[in-house]
Amino acid sequence: MSTVLDRDIERILVSQEEIDRVTTRIAAELDRDYKYSKRFLLLCILKGSVVFMGDLMKKVRVPVEIDFMKVSSYSNGTESTGRINILLDLNRRDLSECDVLVVEDIIDSGRTLSYLTEYLRLNGARSVRTCTLLDKPDRRVVEFVPDYVGREIPDEFVIGYGLDYEERYRTLPFVGVLARSVYAPE
Ligand code: PRP
Repeated sequence: MSTVLDRDIERILVSQEEIDRVTTRIAAELDRDYKYSKRFLLLCILKGSVVFMGDLMKKVRVPVEIDFMKVSSYSNGTESTGRINILLDLNRRDLSECDVLVVEDIIDSGRTLSYLTEYLRLNGARSVRTCTLLDKPDRRVVEFVPDYVGREIPDEFVIGYGLDYEERYRTLPFVGVLARSVYAPE
């Protein structure tokens, strides 16, 4: 690690090796479960999921289409209010033949995926499932159980592999715990 990372990262939570194993495992599960799908759509939720999506889609062997959405959840400073705003939508008129897999980097309160899965079903998707690299079940505000999970993690401030703190650290190849001194300096 460089000196900046030594200072900002408390410890590595999910190593590159573990991420590689997890993406390989999930890709194999998707190959099995979507073998007979006519149109299998991997839907990346920007921005955090872009790194996981990039690795996962290269390992999936069944034919896939890819697309992107961007949503934002409103906060009142520190806490999410639960309202979701769609910033970039799917420009697909017809999802009726699409088996959509929503790809996320992390599930926290559950609000984003709860909203998005309902939205996609209402828009006529043939099926909707969800996949997340990281799951923080302790933080749920709404009940939500993803279909494919890389790893459950404790309620810690994680960054790297797509995840940011104030837009930094997304390009790290591993998931780390951010040092408290970065976001709560004394
Ligand atoms: C993160 C993550 C999910 C959402 C999960 O995105 O990528 O989309 O939060 O939280 P929830 O379960 O409480 O709804 P974020 O809003 O940080 O945007 P980003 O991916 O662009 O960084």
